[in-house]
Amino acid sequence: MNQPKLRVAAVADIHYGKHSRGALHDLFAKCSQQADVLLLCGDLTDYGLAEEAEELIVDLRSAVHVPIVAVLGNHDFESGQPELVRKVLEQAGVTVLDGECAEIEGVGFAGVCGFAGGFGRRMLNPWGEALIKQFVKEAIDHAVRLEQALAKLQTEKKVAVLHYAPIRATVVGEDPEIFPFMGSSRLEEPINRFRVSAVFHGHAHNGALEGKTATGIPVYNVSMPAVQKHAPNDPPFRIVEV
Ligand SMILES: [Fe+2]
Ligand SMILES: [Fe+2]
Repeated sequence: MNQPKLRVAAVADIHYGKHSRGALHDLFAKCSQQADVLLLCGDLTDYGLAEEAEELIVDLRSAVHVPIVAVLGNHDFESGQPELVRKVLEQAGVTVLDGECAEIEGVGFAGVCGFAGGFGRRMLNPWGEALIKQFVKEAIDHAVRLEQALAKLQTEKKVAVLHYAPIRATVVGEDPEIFPFMGSSRLEEPINRFRVSAVFHGHAHNGALEGKTATGIPVYNVSMPAVQKHAPNDPPFRIVEV
């Protein structure tokens, strides 16, 4: 029997600041009305402060009546206290994934922030200075944690939730000089191997909205500025049926 589709609303790079309360209340309400689950794909706060996350949860609490799944983004690490940002979100009932998974109405979600390092044959390799090796190790660690989260899911349908991009196609539109800082192909391998149904990421504010992995899995860049730029007359989030 075919499983009924789950409507996923997704947005990233909302960058809530200390005075952002109310800013995206109506957008969140629309997501909640139109979807069965809301994904927040990182850069939820601007400077990674608990006060900023507090502003955000006021809006989420009043506007959203469906489950919320989130990953943190690089901005959420800026103040060196991502665990506090996470705690505030969790207090409001948000499921924050950092190498973990969750199941909602029979669909599995595996999430991790991801990291940089570039794409394909031009990916940074762990060679030379210790710092370069450490940088690459960080990217590999995120890919491994994504893999572990996917491996735990027993569901037929699996969704990957990331901040950084797993493929080059959805960062096209950014300055080519910063492509290597937008994501890492290392994240793509587990996505293909576990035959994920869809991938959502943010971070590429100027990127393209859609791409596919090497095995044809759809990848959606839901960075709010990018969605706004490509569809200025629509509300800046994506709805995808999984
Ligand atoms: Fe961002
Ligand atoms: Fe980012």
